[in-house]
Amino acid sequence: MTNAHARVFSGVQPTGNLHLGNYLGAIKRFVELQERFDCLYCVVDLHAITVWQDPAELKRSIREVAAAFLAAGVDGEKHIVFNQSQVSAHAELAWIFNCVARLGWLNRMTQFKEKAGKDRENASVGLYAYPNLMAADILAYRATHVPVGEDQKQHLELARDIAQKFNNDFSKSIAENGLPEKFFPQPEPLIAGPATRVMSFRDGTKKMSKSDPSDASRINLTDDADKIAAKIRKAKTDPLPLPETVEDLKTRPEADNLVGIYAALADTDAAAVLAEYGGAQFSGFKQALVDLTVAKLSPITAEMSRLVADPGHIDRVLVSGAERASVIASETMRNVKDIVGFVRGA
Ligand code: TYM
Repeated sequence: MTNAHARVFSGVQPTGNLHLGNYLGAIKRFVELQERFDCLYCVVDLHAITVWQDPAELKRSIREVAAAFLAAGVDGEKHIVFNQSQVSAHAELAWIFNCVARLGWLNRMTQFKEKAGKDRENASVGLYAYPNLMAADILAYRATHVPVGEDQKQHLELARDIAQKFNNDFSKSIAENGLPEKFFPQPEPLIAGPATRVMSFRDGTKKMSKSDPSDASRINLTDDADKIAAKIRKAKTDPLPLPETVEDLKTRPEADNLVGIYAALADTDAAAVLAEYGGAQFSGFKQALVDLTVAKLSPITAEMSRLVADPGHIDRVLVSGAERASVIASETMRNVKDIVGFVRGA
């Protein structure tokens, strides 16, 4: 049963290798949510070009992310899978939000600071305005729920602020156009479960990320069983056995990370994992984690490569998704343009 008033939107950037963090923090949860909501899952290619992308590589990557959604179990017929650039409402609404969001709000975004690094002057304007586009992605569909990993929490808060400011700034016009007072909903971040922030295998205090120069720091969704096993066996740990309680994980970042990954893959929680493995040596636990990870990821990896070998099928899913997404988003845009005061013409 889907909830008629609720709609899920989420996006993943096509910028290189998808990894276990993307899977556990986002894609696995996309699959779970489709039972209860109408969902749109978007390959956010407009976001990708905020940093340089080689065009041929970008194309490959867009299809690969779409393949990952489908291989993980997203239903591209019942729900909507598409790439962002094919629905013009994203860019249009982002422009309007550029005029709603305040510089001060964007100046607080930690991800821009991290990504721009020391050479801020040389970062693209798009990278700076990125969170406004993300708000547009969600609000073009007036989506109410957004499954993401913890690193996106601040961007979601900004989207909520933009929605609220738009509703306030234009309250009179919203009413005059006969539209609901809360024209844009406050989108809820869905950040729950044991692996909302999967950490690097080389450093338990750093996020697992596709931009980490060390391939050993992450499990890619394209890694085969041998690579997965080697990376988990080499993952950094401390010398103590696994703790007995969840409380004790707080001071053990590497143990916390591996237990969280195990719990997420096994659809359980850290307490249940420690009830089984608390007090065990890492070597035994790591072997169990290898077995579980390979069992869960290999079918997805295999299906991804099957799908990528047939780009025609992926492209058909994307085209149909973009058509259906456009119907929803263009209605929002019609209303938004009326609210803002643009003249429709004859
Ligand atoms: P992106 O492409 O960096 O990541 C895609 C999803 O994966 C999650 N994620 C993680 N979760 C747990 N542990 C990790 N180490 C980890 N690394 C990444 C991210 O939180 C995200 O959910 N700005 C977004 C894409 C986006 C979007 C949107 C998301 C654009 N528009 C609208 C939701 C709604 C991003 O760069 O995600």
